[in-house]
Amino acid sequence: MEKIGVGYAYVSDIEKKYVNEALDAIRLSQGKMVHKFEKDFAALHDQKYGIACNSGTSALHVGVEVMKEIHGWTEKSEVLVPAITFIATSNAVMHAGLTPVFVDVDPVTYNMDPAKIEEKITANTIGMIPVHTFGQPCDMDPIMEIAEKHGLWVMEDCAEAHFATYKGRKVGSFGEIGAFSTYVAHTITTGVGGVIITNDQKMAEISRSLIAHGRACTCEVCLASDPRKVCPLRMKTQMDKRFMMVRMGYSYRIGELEGAIGLGQLENRDIIMGNRKKNAAYLTDRLQDTKDVLQLPEAPDYVDHSYMMYPIVVKKEASFTREDITHFLESKNIETRPMLPLLNQPIYQEIFGDIEKDYPVAEWIDHYGFYVGCHHGLTQKELDVIVGAIHEFLKK
Ligand SMILES: Cc1ncc(COP(=O)(O)O)c(C=O)c1O
Repeated sequence: MEKIGVGYAYVSDIEKKYVNEALDAIRLSQGKMVHKFEKDFAALHDQKYGIACNSGTSALHVGVEVMKEIHGWTEKSEVLVPAITFIATSNAVMHAGLTPVFVDVDPVTYNMDPAKIEEKITANTIGMIPVHTFGQPCDMDPIMEIAEKHGLWVMEDCAEAHFATYKGRKVGSFGEIGAFSTYVAHTITTGVGGVIITNDQKMAEISRSLIAHGRACTCEVCLASDPRKVCPLRMKTQMDKRFMMVRMGYSYRIGELEGAIGLGQLENRDIIMGNRKKNAAYLTDRLQDTKDVLQLPEAPDYVDHSYMMYPIVVKKEASFTREDITHFLESKNIETRPMLPLLNQPIYQEIFGDIEKDYPVAEWIDHYGFYVGCHHGLTQKELDVIVGAIHEFLKK
């Protein structure tokens, strides 16, 4: 049997049609496809502006740079991030020259624990990046209250939580910026890529400038669409505004082929999201009898979880280790991955020292957590193979 992987890309005739249209238009750098994709993506998350870029990490990095430009910073500035997340979240803070300060996570949702945020706030804290881990929205009400009370900016890392909602509101619409990844294992994919969303025109313009070398011109005629049109603003400045650089920027753009795939994915979003939720619900239902030893995902009824993956944590009272169960599953051709260990990464131990022990919940997840797939490409048979293998392991 083929490996039952944790990720999957669904490419239908719609994606192929749009990719062919992009090829026929002979415009490979960003144009109509990218701009429609980013507008639609933002609108589907209840935001006005979307800026597509080449990765979720770039989206986060640009987001932090935007916050610095708008809200200010010093060399001592600190940004709060959860102690469980993919390393890109905290790396982005450091790429932007700021210091990440870790907050332990909630033992049930695995997200930044609101009760532990205030103890980490210092005179140098300027913002925070809650991460909607594994597709589960963070508890945004207390997070936004704390941010307001302490005058902190909030950028949401929504890389793993496309279309998830908290109390009926889309993730990415609480903070000033939402940063998404569209890398292939993420629910809506462009192959590689990311999207920044915001309701703030100025933040959108700075983001557009930053992804394109810091250029002054961020208007749509220049960036998008029709190479036959000449921007009316371009020649009004002494130096052609499109080639005038006003900030230290990056080369973080995507092209039309990625935009075309993304557009197709958005049209297929109900299939993609619906199947994931159905698969996760099936796994949870069939694994109820393992709950003495395995912690399954649990979401309060006011959130809509988007299940980028299916996280499982071995309970402390279990008589086996994470390695025992994951090695068994792998031997059955079921792919597993560790559940986003962060503070015990060799590079973080080198930078931050031995701090994992100060974050007991994260430490538990680092050593006992793993995930399996619940993606939209899994067949009923494959779901049953996962359930059967877990039961077989526990019987041993
Ligand atoms: C929570 C989180 N943030 C950021 C990223 C970075 O996204 P990318 O791989 O597109 O750079 C990921 C990627 O897996 C992620 O899971």
